[in-house]
Amino acid sequence: LHGSCFSDVGLWLHDKQATEWGVDESTRRSCQSKGKTEDECQNYVRVLLLNGSRLFTCGTNAFMPMCTTRPVTDISSVLESIGGVARCPYDPRHNSTAMITESGEVYAATVTDFSSRDPIIYRSLGNMPPLRTAQYNSKWLNEPHFVSAYEVGRFTYLFLRENAVEQDCGKTVFSRVARVCQNDIGGRFLLEDTWTTFMKARLNCSRSGDVPFYYHELQSTFYLPEQDLIYGVFTTNVNSIAASAVCAFNLSAITQAFNGPFRYQENPRTSWLSTPNPIPNFQCGTVNDSGPGGNLTERSLQDAQRLFLMSEVVQPISTDPLVMQDNIRFSRLAVDIVQGRDTLYHVMYIGTGQEGIKCDIQCCALWF
Ligand SMILES: *[C@@H]1O[C@H](CO)[C@@H](O)[C@H](O)[C@H]1NC(C)=O
Ligand SMILES: *[C@@H]1O[C@H](CO)[C@@H](O)[C@H](O)[C@H]1NC(C)=O
Ligand SMILES: *[C@@H]1O[C@H](CO)[C@@H](O)[C@H](O)[C@H]1NC(C)=O
Ligand SMILES: *[C@@H]1O[C@H](CO)[C@@H](O)[C@H](O)[C@H]1NC(C)=O
Ligand SMILES: *[C@@H]1O[C@H](CO)[C@@H](O)[C@H](O)[C@H]1NC(C)=O
Repeated sequence: LHGSCFSDVGLWLHDKQATEWGVDESTRRSCQSKGKTEDECQNYVRVLLLNGSRLFTCGTNAFMPMCTTRPVTDISSVLESIGGVARCPYDPRHNSTAMITESGEVYAATVTDFSSRDPIIYRSLGNMPPLRTAQYNSKWLNEPHFVSAYEVGRFTYLFLRENAVEQDCGKTVFSRVARVCQNDIGGRFLLEDTWTTFMKARLNCSRSGDVPFYYHELQSTFYLPEQDLIYGVFTTNVNSIAASAVCAFNLSAITQAFNGPFRYQENPRTSWLSTPNPIPNFQCGTVNDSGPGGNLTERSLQDAQRLFLMSEVVQPISTDPLVMQDNIRFSRLAVDIVQGRDTLYHVMYIGTGQEGIKCDIQCCALWF
């Protein structure tokens, strides 16, 4: 389990190093003059990524997010400083995540503004043009809490929870997996500087029964690439009775949902309907291959603008969760594969506890 309860950024380096990265006086004063507390007006590191021999790191910098690049061998020396907006949240409590690809692009899932109202999945730096999710469009992202991001083949997968747009009555949070192509270059005229390959699907983690009991809220994930499995910790809403579960999802089940039909709402007064997938076996391959002037994307931009919510729900590998526990909130997990006498065991280390409460590795479960 990495890091503290407050922030799950963390890295293993070969040697132990320490450095200070504080906020300058005028930035701190400006932060406090906007009504933030002394505590909030510190620099909280929320992005910490290894890029070859360099460390790429961003901090909230008293609500003026900033990023730096440093040599791994000497983290006190700053090679470059750049703005952190859309890479790091202003508010240290915002649930953001970031990932760096092998070719050096940063994928950040965060908010771009002081009041955390403008969520974004943003690619920047490296060799690809910057791209973002559509702005102020709650169908793309609706008050999301981002959990994790992974590079899988030519896709970047993102895990999050958000208010369900497709649910008409009352406010429900759904957990999602979202996906974009790493070779997406954005649209032209339509969806300019915006993803043309963005799709998302709901994740189901529930206890079966006449009326299934849903663990709606994804809290953390752990990816086992060699098994094509994503483990997720899910809980009930903070305002309801505490209950937690661990579900695992097969990457092939996720792909199957993305190859299935979409859910689409013609206008805000009509209901959400299922509509066939125009490209049921979508690959990232052709997005860049047609060259300038050619077909920029395999998906038509009109489709890309309205078809991104999948109709099918991703089901976990087992009917019931692998672990269920009431009256407790799981927060994080890590999974280790251990060779037993005649089988491989998946050993889950499950963390509990929230910000401000002591963290604990509460239980250890086996699955094989
Ligand atoms: C981030 O997630 C944690 C754990 O689910 C939650 O307690 C916290 O309120 C979230 N942060 C914000 C700013 O909503
Ligand atoms: C990561 O390193 C590569 C190669 O040096 C570089 O092209 C890329 O811009 C770097 N990315 C970041 C985020 O610093
Ligand atoms: C979620 O899984 C449960 C248990 O298998 C099942 O009863 C329920 O129909 C599923 N819900 C959705 C929305 O797929
Ligand atoms: C994941 O899906 C693949 C392909 O359908 C299957 O071969 C594999 O057994 C599944 N893994 C688990 C753990 O269910
Ligand atoms: C571009 O791709 C779309 C969708 O596959 C297709 O309908 C259209 O005919 C293509 N246009 C050109 C100029 O190749």
